[in-house]
Amino acid sequence: MDLKSQINIEKLPRHIAIIMDGNGRWAKQHGKPRVFGHRNGVTAVRETTEAAAELGVEYLTLYAFSTENWNRPKLEVSALMRLLVDTLHKEIETLNKNDIRLQAIGDITKLPGSTYKALLEGIENTKDNKRMTLVLALNYSSKWEIMEASRRLAQQVEAGVLRPEEIDEEIFAGALNTSGMPDPELLIRTSGETRLSNFLLWQVAYAELYFTPIFWPDFRKENFYTAIIDFQQRERRFGKISEQLVQ
Ligand code: FPP
Repeated sequence: MDLKSQINIEKLPRHIAIIMDGNGRWAKQHGKPRVFGHRNGVTAVRETTEAAAELGVEYLTLYAFSTENWNRPKLEVSALMRLLVDTLHKEIETLNKNDIRLQAIGDITKLPGSTYKALLEGIENTKDNKRMTLVLALNYSSKWEIMEASRRLAQQVEAGVLRPEEIDEEIFAGALNTSGMPDPELLIRTSGETRLSNFLLWQVAYAELYFTPIFWPDFRKENFYTAIIDFQQRERRFGKISEQLVQ
């Protein structure tokens, strides 16, 4: 039986987040510069986005650039930013054809002007699409996001529009970049690393974590299906015991 037909569409995660890792090592294996890995990573982005939309996943979040990634060699950073602009320009039409809305999380105002502009255009041009939301995490850091949310809430308290005792999980989640999105139920990381690397720390509180040794440029629909099948075979208890779960 093929992998796709083993997926229970009734129990699909509403939101899947992915730490795309291993582009550099993949390039090295092929005797090529790191940028070659990033360029081939775009194929995996396309495949995964298509697979998620076809299945009916509502949100797909991809960690495309972390705040820490600025520490990479200048040439790699600028090549990545250019690749983002090129990919956004090329793929917006495809997103529209497939009814996919683009959104971004992270401190995007600090991105180079051309990347920021391409991103805003992409978000604006796809804002009415309904089938799936593709969220790019760019210049994203979870600690930064949580600090920003705290700051915003503190300002509201200072302004007298919010009382400290009113701050609950819902209000706090609403102050994060991911406001309005369901929390990811499944987090995938490629390349054999088993860290969260400052990604969606608040939001993955109950997510199932799935690690695969495959390098991101080699990640294909079948690998995505395998991760979902693995997710569906796990029992999600949210702190309860098995007998308390309604089937
Ligand atoms: C991680 O591999 C990958 C990145 C930091 C960049 C991911 C970006 C892309 C795949 C292109 C983005 C395109 C769009 C439209 C989202 P790594 O460089 O950390 O690999 P390594 O751990 O082997 O060095």
